[in-house]
Amino acid sequence: MLNEKFNSFLSWHIYQVYPRSFYDSDGDGIGDLAGVTAKLDYLKELGINAIWLCPCFKSPNVDNGYDVADYRDIMDEFGTMADMQKLIDALHSRDMKLILDLVPNHTSDQHKWFQESRKSKDNPYSDYYYWYDTPPNDWQSMFGGSAYSFDEVRGQYYLHSYAPQQPDLNWENPKVVQEIQAVVDFWVDMGADGFRIDVIDQISKDFEGNRNCFGPHLHEYIQALFGRKKTEHIFTVGECWAGELEEIRRHIGQDRGELSTLFQFGHLNYGRADKFTPKPGSLTQLWNCIRYWDETMQNNELLFSVFTDNHDNGWMLERLGSRQYRYESACCIAAMMYLLRGVCFVYQGQEIGMLNPSYSTIEQFRDVESINMYQALCKEMSPERAMEKINFGSRDNQRRPFCWDGTKHAGFTTGTPWIPVHSECKTCNLEKDRASEKSVWQFYRDILHLRMAHPALTVGRFAPVAPRDTNYCAFTRTEGDEQFLVVCNFETPQELKIDGAKGKLILSNYGLIEKTNHYYAPYEVAVFRRTLHG
Ligand code: NOJ
Repeated sequence: MLNEKFNSFLSWHIYQVYPRSFYDSDGDGIGDLAGVTAKLDYLKELGINAIWLCPCFKSPNVDNGYDVADYRDIMDEFGTMADMQKLIDALHSRDMKLILDLVPNHTSDQHKWFQESRKSKDNPYSDYYYWYDTPPNDWQSMFGGSAYSFDEVRGQYYLHSYAPQQPDLNWENPKVVQEIQAVVDFWVDMGADGFRIDVIDQISKDFEGNRNCFGPHLHEYIQALFGRKKTEHIFTVGECWAGELEEIRRHIGQDRGELSTLFQFGHLNYGRADKFTPKPGSLTQLWNCIRYWDETMQNNELLFSVFTDNHDNGWMLERLGSRQYRYESACCIAAMMYLLRGVCFVYQGQEIGMLNPSYSTIEQFRDVESINMYQALCKEMSPERAMEKINFGSRDNQRRPFCWDGTKHAGFTTGTPWIPVHSECKTCNLEKDRASEKSVWQFYRDILHLRMAHPALTVGRFAPVAPRDTNYCAFTRTEGDEQFLVVCNFETPQELKIDGAKGKLILSNYGLIEKTNHYYAPYEVAVFRRTLHG
């Protein structure tokens, strides 16, 4: 059994906001906190009860806020601390929660700690980062090139797992642990209800094993942050690449004083050979994966996280759905995922079934990873071929302004957007989805509201009905005498005779007409509800 606290998270519907691209309230072309506040009623209507705000702290934006220059202040473009307080109050008055993005592995090189640290080998901040006379290994930065850069001021190399402007903090220094603890406390006192923690597995390095993560002190550090009275009540989700059950348990076991849940990323890799290279993938692979994990997490009293998209990966709909059946396949993925047992994360734009945009030049991109990758690819292939890869895998696919409507700047800003709006925003936008007779948006809203109305769909038991390797998925969710059966057909139309499909049809993407035969159309979703007797 999950304890009361963890159990309550099963009802959280968390919407991931990428503030820079959500809604611009002041016409400078950049989304902001007041813009998020302005749209809370929209989110509430969708069925959302919490938001995860990507980093909004002071930052020179080399990596769009994942390079923090001051953890206790707001990025100029996003507003002020007063705007943050207004957002928190506006959320809480609607009974919604705030999850902040904590970036503890690295700071910006503009952070005071780094500015001081680089001055000499013996100042109060000198050991806040990893400094070396010569690089101790050949670790590579996640954004390309060596993970070590030479600093002229100090005359030494420092470690940066990401861009050179993102030096890694040295957690082996107890002062660093205290600093980040104080940051956590600061935001808990401000009213944050939780944190998403950026690359948490990297805060302890395994120098001996030659890997830049899962070091020997990882759990000690996580406990130092979240195993305290002060943080007892909050929700935490780790960006953590733990793969094995035992490793997952060490991070999120209810008795560990560590995290509430973590993102497991395996299912994002179906449909691609690597981030920038497509490869055929299937919903059957997705079913095999979620079927296994939802059951395994439940049986091991661990909290599962359900998500399909985020700000770092191209749309799942593009990789596993169908352009021809955009509406049907988006609904199919939504029902498969969000009727599972787990805490739900929806990424902005997913609810209107966004697909990847397409651009012909790299000038239309802003992301440091995409630009570095493009330059590296151009050394090996033609610019056209390189652009194909960027269009497929760029993180900017997710980071373009939210398409509120089909006007010039998608209703996002009255100014000039910081990045060109989505090339498909005339076809895919919220206004259109709202006005249509049926739309991806309406289906997401229906699913989220259904979850809110029925404990069977939040805390209820998950049981797979379809076996592995099927070209459809089927499972039940049960609580007390209420049971739901979820059936999602994949691309091939077929007859499906499923035990228990006797209840009342309450959700479908092909019209709510009682099923009189066993025929399922492409990507058809049918959700049945029944009362169990005896
Ligand atoms: C993971 C974040 O999700 C990504 O956007 C960022 O670039 C890296 N961590 C570095 O902070």
